[in-house]
Amino acid sequence: MNDPQKAKFVSFEGIDGCGKSTLMDRLADWLKEARIPYVRVREPGGTTIGEKIRQILLDPASSDMTGRTEVLLYSASRAQLTWQVIVPALERGEWVLADRFVDATFAYQGFGRGFDPERLEMIQRWATGGLWPDKTILLDCEVALAMSRLGGREGTDRDRIELEEEAFHRKVRSGYLALARKEPERFILLDASKPLEEVVEDFRKRFWLARF
Ligand SMILES: Nc1ncnc2c1ncn2[C@@H]1O[C@H](COP(=O)(O)OP(=O)(O)OP(=O)(O)O)[C@@H](O)[C@H]1O
Ligand SMILES: [Mg+2]
Repeated sequence: MNDPQKAKFVSFEGIDGCGKSTLMDRLADWLKEARIPYVRVREPGGTTIGEKIRQILLDPASSDMTGRTEVLLYSASRAQLTWQVIVPALERGEWVLADRFVDATFAYQGFGRGFDPERLEMIQRWATGGLWPDKTILLDCEVALAMSRLGGREGTDRDRIELEEEAFHRKVRSGYLALARKEPERFILLDASKPLEEVVEDFRKRFWLARF
């Protein structure tokens, strides 16, 4: 984070409804004001191929998907995104803002579904050629609060992962916290239960103002 000339690869993580998109909007505004070029991507998806994989992954009709298929489809979408969009953007000197990246697999498929973290890491390193975010913003709050922020989406509007029971999302949340504890240099952990403007202010101080 010390070279102001170097493009930054920043990922945003946390359970559904914690506020990732909202905070990414703010960072996008600050980058525009500072005339720093950036690209913004989402996972799964972000490419034509990745969006097709996203449909398969999130379709509630894919309820018979095996865990291994899930790991590999997320990783396939990520590989496509990495090589088609992220690597070229960083090479052009642009920042990359990613709505989820490798940590989502560690949290959801590792802590959530119980897959071996070392094997998952090996698959991620292969899929991304070892490309890792420079900084990862983890938005943390209670599962019930995050769900309530999604406006009590009706059952029929929820995707396959959102339809998982609350216990699954609690495992994912605590998994994310464990990841942040393991890599305190890369992660910025934000208390997302605070009012939005306070979360934004914490983010501004701890990431934006501290970036050089
Ligand atoms: N700190 C906050 N306090 C109150 N409301 C918030 C806060 N952060 C975000 N919100 C609101 O909660 C809702 C969900 O936020 P957002 O869409 O940013 O979450 P997300 O993590 O991107 O969710 P998803 O994983 O479903 O994309 C939005 O309506 C947003 O305005
Ligand atoms: Mg979002």
